[in-house]
Amino acid sequence: MRRSLIFALGLLLAACSGITGNRGKETTSPDGRIRFAIDINEEGIPQYSVMFDGETIIAPSALGLTTSECDYRSGLQLLNIDHSSHSEVWQPVWGQYAEIEDCYNAMTANFTTADNRKLALEVRLYNDGVGMRYTLDGEGEVDILDEQTEFAAVADYEAHWIAGSYDDDEYAYMHTPLSGITRETMAKSGNPARQLPYPAVNTPVTMVTANGTHVAIHEAALWHYPAMSLRYDAERNTFTSDLAAVGEVKSRVELPFSTPWRTIIVGDRAGELIESTLTLNLNEPCRLEDTSWIRPMKYVGVWWEMHLKNSTWDMGGSAPHCATTENVKRYIDFAAEAGFDGVLVEGWNIGWGWGERFDYCKPYPDFDIDEIVAYGRERGVMLIGHHETYANVVNYEEQMEASYDYYAAKGVGSVKTGYVGSIPNRYHNSREMVDHYNRTVVEAAKRNITVDIHEPVHPTGICRTYPNLVSAEGMRGQEWQAWNSGNCIDHNPTLPFTRNVAGAMDFTPGIFDVRYHNSVNRAAANEEYKVDEKHDYRFFVNSTLMHQLAQYVVFYSPIQMVADLPENYKMYPEAFTFIRNVPVDWADTRALDCKVGDYAVVARRDKHSDKWYVGGITDGSAREVSVALDFLEEGRSYRATIYRDGERAGWDSYPTDHIIEQVEVCHDSVLDIRMAAGGGFAIEIE
Ligand code: NOJ
Ligand code: CA
Repeated sequence: MRRSLIFALGLLLAACSGITGNRGKETTSPDGRIRFAIDINEEGIPQYSVMFDGETIIAPSALGLTTSECDYRSGLQLLNIDHSSHSEVWQPVWGQYAEIEDCYNAMTANFTTADNRKLALEVRLYNDGVGMRYTLDGEGEVDILDEQTEFAAVADYEAHWIAGSYDDDEYAYMHTPLSGITRETMAKSGNPARQLPYPAVNTPVTMVTANGTHVAIHEAALWHYPAMSLRYDAERNTFTSDLAAVGEVKSRVELPFSTPWRTIIVGDRAGELIESTLTLNLNEPCRLEDTSWIRPMKYVGVWWEMHLKNSTWDMGGSAPHCATTENVKRYIDFAAEAGFDGVLVEGWNIGWGWGERFDYCKPYPDFDIDEIVAYGRERGVMLIGHHETYANVVNYEEQMEASYDYYAAKGVGSVKTGYVGSIPNRYHNSREMVDHYNRTVVEAAKRNITVDIHEPVHPTGICRTYPNLVSAEGMRGQEWQAWNSGNCIDHNPTLPFTRNVAGAMDFTPGIFDVRYHNSVNRAAANEEYKVDEKHDYRFFVNSTLMHQLAQYVVFYSPIQMVADLPENYKMYPEAFTFIRNVPVDWADTRALDCKVGDYAVVARRDKHSDKWYVGGITDGSAREVSVALDFLEEGRSYRATIYRDGERAGWDSYPTDHIIEQVEVCHDSVLDIRMAAGGGFAIEIE
């Protein structure tokens, strides 16, 4: 009785306040499982909340923006709410799927200030989560001074996070309750000098509720705006958007202006974070008319040898120069023989010496670019260029167009960029840098050049609009295993549910000589393992060989490096067959059995054949998984080649011990596979 009275009163109020639309202040995802509600309190502060299967996952949380003209945090009035729906299917140029369903219910809440300024909150509910963004009406320019979007947790969720920073995402993942996000724990995540001076995380941040609901907060379509970190307020158990900027002004924008989408990906399985297409769906369709030149590929690189200190980038430096014509040809021969399409070459241009400035149109004298490109072309291998900036962004901006023209003229169709260091007067995540990164992609696209950004701003799905942005770093990649601090053993089974949720990652998989036997670091690697007790870091690659194979399936990127030295692949030619065969572009993706930070098993179907590939990786615990092959077509029989850890294998002893076997399988088959500690497996099904 009382309930229905309140309900009737609510309806009346809604009618009086002019709220229209048949669903009022709420909307749901197309499957009805996610529910989003918006409201405004007595102080005129807009608030939203999110429920999943009846469980509140985001408690009422404030929304707001402050500009140089107006404070939109309070004193607002809700004018009306429009509802709509959308459904279409689109085909990405490359990706985890051949087709993506873009199906959502939308609502736009229109607010006004006392002096009649308009702010709209646009919300889209997909089956895999929520996107919401602000639109400021008007004309002319305005300075965004801050954004106060809150994400209030309901309980002390389990959280998987890296430290908040305006400059860096190369941190170790922490696994704590939300209340464990403290300055002390952040310091364990990595270099505190680059971190925010208060409890904060970078996104995607992944949480698991007591019911097992998985939630990841991130952003989509980052244009003309700084990237978002999240400040954590322990007392209120709430995250608040935290925009990177050097001064007071976060971003000067032209009105009308829409912010990037704030996203909340939701699912009841960890694997749904891998399967989500929300970030891509919230981006604009492809703006390139012709995309035929964008080729997903596996590539090798004159690269790992420098990280092992066998050679160096700088001609005349302390070790032999890496990028000599002769050495590059050796890599081209290897790529051609194995069927890989590209060879990345770092250290090819003037500027690596101490105190020098990079010149992006001037090769070192021992690097004959014309001869190398021609040699590669004859063998079907493209030269992938490299532009390290050492954070001298002004120098790069001055040369950007000329350097892309140079590559285009030489026949270099792909560039890896890098921004190691601190950028004067900017953060990697500030608006100027977001514009810069986006400009590299747009300028490269004009010249049919693909881009892979290292030390990037975190990906936000703009590769849908510009699919020549083929990959990015923005995490601790495998290279950290060549350095002194390494990666935690649970780093790899965390990445698919965190960083990789944002988009393709250039992790650089496939190290075969996990103990560096062929390198000058051999002595260090064979010493007693150096263990940092807190972190379980190791001075070599802390995985089994089979774990390295599995990375090609578990980690998503349309370009995947075959990162080890060519000679090291000769040690295990049969295992190498998997890397030769595994595709990089997929028709379908299913995350089968997963637990964030513990293990991940992913199946993907090749975009250009009927073959399926399955990869599994685990952390420091050995475990057995049952892989049901019910994704295979019924009534057909297949041959599965299984690459799995040997009986003795483990990351810290006999890491390369492995077994390769073939079995007949069908739709009803279930494969029980044991992964060693730090191990994994890979399966090719044809
Ligand atoms: C850091 C990048 O992540 C790495 O791949 C590259 O080799 C070095 N910078 C040198 O540019
Ligand atoms: Ca890096």
